Amino acid sequence: MDSMWGVFGTLILLSTIILYRNRFRLRSVNRNPLPLGTLGWPVIGETIEFVSCAYSDRPESFMDKRRHIYGKVFKSHIFGSPTIISTDAEVSKFVLQSDAKAFVPSYPKSLTELMGKSSILLINGSLQRRIHGLIGAFFKSPHLKAQITRDMQNYVQESMAHWKDDHPIYIQDETKNIAFQVLVKALISLDPGGEMQLLKKQFQEFIAGLMSLPINIPGTTLYRSLQASCDHFSSIFQAKKKMVKLVRSIIQARRHSGVSSAVPKDVVDVLLGDSSEQLTDDLIAENLIDMMIPGEDSVPVLMTLAIKFLSDCPTALQQLTEENLKLKKLKSQLGQPLCWSDYLSLPFTQTVITETLRMGNIIIGVMRKAMKDVEIKGYLIPKGWCFFAYFRSVHLDANHYDWPYKFNPWRWQDKDMSTCNFTPFGGGQRLCPGLDLARLEASIFLHLFVTRFRWGAEEDTIVNFPTVRMKRRMPIWVKRTVDP
Ligand code: HEM
Repeated sequence: MDSMWGVFGTLILLSTIILYRNRFRLRSVNRNPLPLGTLGWPVIGETIEFVSCAYSDRPESFMDKRRHIYGKVFKSHIFGSPTIISTDAEVSKFVLQSDAKAFVPSYPKSLTELMGKSSILLINGSLQRRIHGLIGAFFKSPHLKAQITRDMQNYVQESMAHWKDDHPIYIQDETKNIAFQVLVKALISLDPGGEMQLLKKQFQEFIAGLMSLPINIPGTTLYRSLQASCDHFSSIFQAKKKMVKLVRSIIQARRHSGVSSAVPKDVVDVLLGDSSEQLTDDLIAENLIDMMIPGEDSVPVLMTLAIKFLSDCPTALQQLTEENLKLKKLKSQLGQPLCWSDYLSLPFTQTVITETLRMGNIIIGVMRKAMKDVEIKGYLIPKGWCFFAYFRSVHLDANHYDWPYKFNPWRWQDKDMSTCNFTPFGGGQRLCPGLDLARLEASIFLHLFVTRFRWGAEEDTIVNFPTVRMKRRMPIWVKRTVDP
C-alpha cells in the first residue's frame, strides 16, 4: 500500500514539474501562451479519460467538459503526445489548409507501421499532391460515376434478391459486402469471384486487427498487452503482405501487357499512367490497399446510419420514399434507366445523406503534427506537438445547429453545406477525394431500398470507438413491396 502511495506521490510531483517547466519555458520567450488545459498524468496524460468517453454514447463529453472550462481550443496529452485539441472550426480549417512545412499527418506508430511509409495518408509534399490530384480527378470523372452506378445497381440488387421476410437482414454486413465490391472494382477492376473473396478475407482480417490494436501508452497495462500481442501484430502484417502480393501481381500484369487505355478504367490505370516515374509498384499497391478501407468501413457505415436515422424518423422516411418513387415512375415512363446524375439530383435524399454525415461523424476528426511553432487566432501550437481537429464537437454544436442531436434533414434546405462548420470529409490539402463516390453509393442504395421494401428495425445502438458502427450490425425485418 505504502509503495502504491509512493508511486502516486512521485507521479504528482513529476506532473507538477512538467507542467511548471512547460509554463516557465513558454513565459521566458515572449510569444502567445499555450492554450489553456491540463496535460494530465505524466506519460499517460488524459488518454484514459479520452478513451472511456470515446466508448460512451457521448464521446464528445471529453471535449465538452474542457471546452466549457478552457474555451474551444485547449491543450491535453493523449496517445503519448502533448496535443492541442481544436473544436473551433476556423482554427481547424487553418491547420488543414496549411502545407507540410507547418503540419504533417500524425497517427499512432502501430498504425503507421501497418499502413506503410508510402501510404497517401502519411506522405507529404509534391508526391501526396500528385497522387491526391490523380485519384481525385478520376473519382470525379463522369465515366467512373457511370461505372460505379452500374456496379452498385447490380451488387445491391444481387444482395437484395436473397432477402427474405422470415429472418433478419443485417444492414451493416450487407452494405459492407456491396461497398467493398464496388470500390475494389473501381480500384483494380476485380470482379466478384474467387480472388475477390480471398482479398476480402485478408482485408477483413487486416481491418479487424487494426481496430483491436491496443493503445501504445508506455508503462500501462495497455502497453504490456501490446508487447504481448506481437503475434497478433504479425498476423495483421501477414494479411497485409498477402494483399500487397495479390495487388502487385495485378499491377505487374497490367504493366507488362503494355496496353494503355485512353480512358483509364480503374485507379491502377490512373497511377500507372503517371509520367513522373515516382510511383513504384509497391507504392501503388500499398495505396490501393489503403483506399479499400473506406469501402469496408466508412461508406457502409454511412448507408447503415442513414437506415438507422430513417427508421427512427418516419416523416423523413416518408418524404424520402415519395421523392424516390416519383423519380422511379418518371424514368420508367420515359423508358430510361437511372443514371448517376439522377440519383444526385434528388434534393431531399441529399439532405438525408448530409444530415447522416453530420450526426454520424464517421470520422470524428483528424490529427496532425506541428513542424514549427504556429500561432492561430492567438493560440500557440508548439513545434513537435500534435494537433487534433475534432469535427464531432463542431457538428454537434448548438451554436451552429439548432437541436444538434435531432435528426433533421430539413435543416439543410436553407443551410449552406460548404462552411467550415461542416467537414465530414476533412478539408484543405487532404480533403477526401472519395466524397462524391460515397454520396453516390449511399444515394443508389437508399433509392433501391426504399422503392422496394418496407421494414421494421430491431433495437440497436451506435458504437463510436475505435470506429463508428452498430452494436448489433443493424438487424431489420423487411417486407418486399415490388417483385425482385
Ligand atoms: C462516408 C465516407 C467517407 C468519409 C466520411 C471519408 C472521410 C475522409 C476524411 C475526413 C479524410 C481526411 C483525412 C485527413 O485529413 O487526414 C479522408 C481522406 C481520404 N479519403 Fe475519404 N472518406 C470517405 C470515403 C472515401 C472513399 C469512398 C474513398 C475512395 C477510395 C476515400 C479515399 C480517401 C483518400 C485516398 C484520402 C486521403 C487523401 C489525402 O491524404 O490526400 N474516402 N476521407
